[in-house]
Amino acid sequence: MSTVTFDVEAVDEVIDAVSAYYRESNANVSGPYATSRRTEVLVDKARTTAADFLRCSPEETIFGANMTTLAFALTRTAGRTWDAGDEIIVTKLDHDANVSPWLELAHDKDLTVRFVDIHDDTTLDLDDLERLLSDRTRVVSFPVASNAVGTVSDVRRIVELAHDAGALAWADAVHYGPHGPIDVRDWDVDVLICSPYKYFGPHLGLAYGRRELLESWRPYKVRPASDEPLGHRFETGTLPHELLAGFVAAVEYVESTGWDAIRAYERELGERFLRGLPENVTLYGLPTMEGRVATFAFNVDGIPTRAAAARLGDAGYAVWQGNYYALEVMNRLGLGDAGAVRAGIVHYNTEDEVDGLLKAIRAL
Ligand SMILES: Cc1ncc(COP(=O)(O)O)c(C=O)c1O
Repeated sequence: MSTVTFDVEAVDEVIDAVSAYYRESNANVSGPYATSRRTEVLVDKARTTAADFLRCSPEETIFGANMTTLAFALTRTAGRTWDAGDEIIVTKLDHDANVSPWLELAHDKDLTVRFVDIHDDTTLDLDDLERLLSDRTRVVSFPVASNAVGTVSDVRRIVELAHDAGALAWADAVHYGPHGPIDVRDWDVDVLICSPYKYFGPHLGLAYGRRELLESWRPYKVRPASDEPLGHRFETGTLPHELLAGFVAAVEYVESTGWDAIRAYERELGERFLRGLPENVTLYGLPTMEGRVATFAFNVDGIPTRAAAARLGDAGYAVWQGNYYALEVMNRLGLGDAGAVRAGIVHYNTEDEVDGLLKAIRAL
């Protein structure tokens, strides 16, 4: 039995921080009064917190509504200077929020989008990536972890291949967010987008952009809005200040919990889940915890996906079903519209919950 226990109740500090902001500081920035000053201090704190979390400098952080909104805005900004015939590479492992923004940009600017294939085990085919790269490639956009099958990408190698071809390396870290530490410097990515609501914070999006890149981009912004700090150029309108307060508390929660403990524990629970899967279950993706996070897509013989998920839901297990917007991986696995059941494990889950889920799967 695992001896790990987490103080998961501490995450309530996120809720308290949001309420405290409304009670004590609710205002816009740049006003000549106390609540506005307090709000400015909070925005600065959120930026330094984001920088510590992503391992970059505060000027390189950009807050937005969610990953999808940031992706549409930043892809369009990046592509302003690209020419017809330029090429974009995405992958078949991506969530569509890391694909459609590029497809729309390509539609408007007559660019070409290419898809990197995956192997049957759902790892990215990096030989295929090498084949697709050309001197017209402007960006390689990829997931750090798949939200469908849990596969973790070889980020360093993808970045190296992109940079060798003179392309940007653009990472979607939304699904990876609750499972492990992000380090944009070590990974050497040019852009990375994630969603704090996935790591126990409020509904918010957060992006990193390498300083030189942000300095080179022409932002879509209103003229009176400040150009400083750098990342702020790419934030439109008033930020959701109360959510920034919650974001700071969420990062404090994650840091105090500790990535090493989170990773080791999730691995333990993931292995327990994989070991306990009955024979009549088909798992899509890597069969051990090596190279993946604890997100499992599967189907049960003879039981339609939707029905299986509904029955597990009735039994108290909040699993998902369908394609979870990961269209390409589902098509590649031949699962089409029906997709698969998806169960995700994070650090607040317990061994009893994993055993209970396995029992409920066996009883389907
Ligand atoms: C891998 C991945 N990318 C992008 C998104 C979209 O994120 P958001 O809801 O913040 O727009 C999700 C959402 O689940 C996701 O799992």
